[in-house]
Amino acid sequence: MSALPNGAGGRPETPVYPLGSRSGRRPPAGPAEGRVALVSGGDHGLGLRIVRMLAERGMRVVLGCRSVDSGRAAAAALGSLAGRVAVRELDLTDEAGVRRLVSWMELQLRRCDVLVNNATVLFDDDGHVPTGIDLAVVRRTLDNNLFGAWHLTQSVAPLMRAGRYGRVVNISSDLASLTSMRCDLPAYRISKCALNALTRMLADELAGEGVLVNACCREPAPPGDTDAAVSATADTATWLATLPDDGPTGGFFRGRTPVGW
Ligand SMILES: NC(=O)c1ccc[n+]([C@@H]2O[C@H](COP(=O)([O-])OP(=O)(O)OC[C@H]3O[C@@H](n4cnc5c(N)ncnc54)[C@H](OP(=O)(O)O)[C@@H]3O)[C@@H](O)[C@H]2O)c1
Repeated sequence: MSALPNGAGGRPETPVYPLGSRSGRRPPAGPAEGRVALVSGGDHGLGLRIVRMLAERGMRVVLGCRSVDSGRAAAAALGSLAGRVAVRELDLTDEAGVRRLVSWMELQLRRCDVLVNNATVLFDDDGHVPTGIDLAVVRRTLDNNLFGAWHLTQSVAPLMRAGRYGRVVNISSDLASLTSMRCDLPAYRISKCALNALTRMLADELAGEGVLVNACCREPAPPGDTDAAVSATADTATWLATLPDDGPTGGFFRGRTPVGW
């Protein structure tokens, strides 16, 4: 198993690397084995399920989270997969912190093959409407859900370009769909709409550079079974994170199936 350096912030690490992993060479086998993924908000919920699935496929996963203690507890609960998971502090709204994390990845791992933009805030779930919502709430939501994901993607893009390989997975929502747009949750919805637009722009820009950029939305939960919805959504995200080179880009998926914008 490929172990990862672990630890909080800039603390010294005890790295164990598989032979050749610091050379920057492409991993030799399989679409996932040996690749490096970064998952934002990876310490619980959907993010943690995606961390698990990527590690199960042989990836080394950087679990980015605001609380390193929470991330460590989450990683420990992954049992034998924990050796493939490095917990690193990540607050999307801290631009300098994001740059530090990506520099650490460049220095220690020499690569970032996969980025899952999962971390999200939801501030307006108590009856807000577009004409009434405090725009400060909208701005804070956009700071996290749009600008945070955007800046993180900008930060890892040079690593993906250097390796001529990348998979960016933006976790969106069916609430972002323009055709079924409603007036509730205006800040959250518009942040995910914008994330969808960003998905299309990035896919266009990075086409031909080996970087595929897609969005996915959550499976509807069967009554009383949220866990099944989380698993199914994580499966789609993991599929997008491990697409072959001729896989789709600029798409919006649920259950590995394209859905309308
Ligand atoms: N739950 C649903 O029904 C549903 C439906 C459609 C789409 N989705 C999407 O699925 C994804 C995961 O949802 P979830 O329900 O698993 O969410 P969740 O349990 O609320 O987890 C969100 C994660 O994002 C992190 N986060 C928030 N702001 C951050 C920031 N500035 N920097 C770094 N991390 C930050 C949170 O960290 P803390 O723990 O520190 O707060 C948490 O780890 C989201 O993109 C969401 O929009 C969810």
